[in-house]
Amino acid sequence: MILPGNSDFTSTVTVAKVVVVSGSWKTPSKTRTLTDAVADALRKLRRIETIKIDLAEVGSQIAQLTTTSDADPKLTSLFSAVASADLLIVGSPIYKAAYTGLFKHFFDLIDPHALIGKPVLLTATGGSLHYALVLEHQFRPLFSFFRAQTLPNTVYAVESDFENGVLISQSVKDRIEKVASEAEGEIERQLQRSMASRVA
Ligand SMILES: Cc1cc2nc3c(=O)[nH]c(=O)nc-3n(C[C@H](O)[C@H](O)[C@H](O)COP(=O)(O)O)c2cc1C
Repeated sequence: MILPGNSDFTSTVTVAKVVVVSGSWKTPSKTRTLTDAVADALRKLRRIETIKIDLAEVGSQIAQLTTTSDADPKLTSLFSAVASADLLIVGSPIYKAAYTGLFKHFFDLIDPHALIGKPVLLTATGGSLHYALVLEHQFRPLFSFFRAQTLPNTVYAVESDFENGVLISQSVKDRIEKVASEAEGEIERQLQRSMASRVA
């Protein structure tokens, strides 16, 4: 489901398009809470418009697709949003030492050339801290396939970092501030590069 974008109009800088993909099958979802927190932190730093894609909402439709050409207009708009984003914030629960099958299937449907050079901020939630490196061993290679530009820092949270669906861990919140700042810098660099190439 695409949730309405939120804009912060207090800044005069270019509005960056940020697409948030949350790959849990469940609602409510800790992963969704985490990816929302990252988007909120970024919104405090710069002007953004967000499109939130909660795969729990569209999972059964996505699962039936083998190609985007069979997608209905609503799903087509999701794939287009991903392709045209200035930044992707992606998150998935860890399932069996990887992202969910749903998360993978969503990106299987994305054109292999659609994410070239695109900044991607990686996040995940898991039951155990032992699985934090799944971000490096599973998530990062997936986006390397797309020749996307994954940000160096990632965010990983475990179940005990949440209480009643609310993120309570100060260390995870601090980490979110750090990656949001990194994402903000990367968005600026990308927008300046694309402005320079338009002028040239
Ligand atoms: C089928 C399944 C497999 C899981 N496998 C792992 C795993 O390998 N490692 C881990 O740390 N947590 C694992 N978990 C726990 C989830 O990653 C964790 O509860 C996550 O925070 C759920 O996120 P959500 O609330 O967004 O769905 C698994 C959970 C399920 C349902």
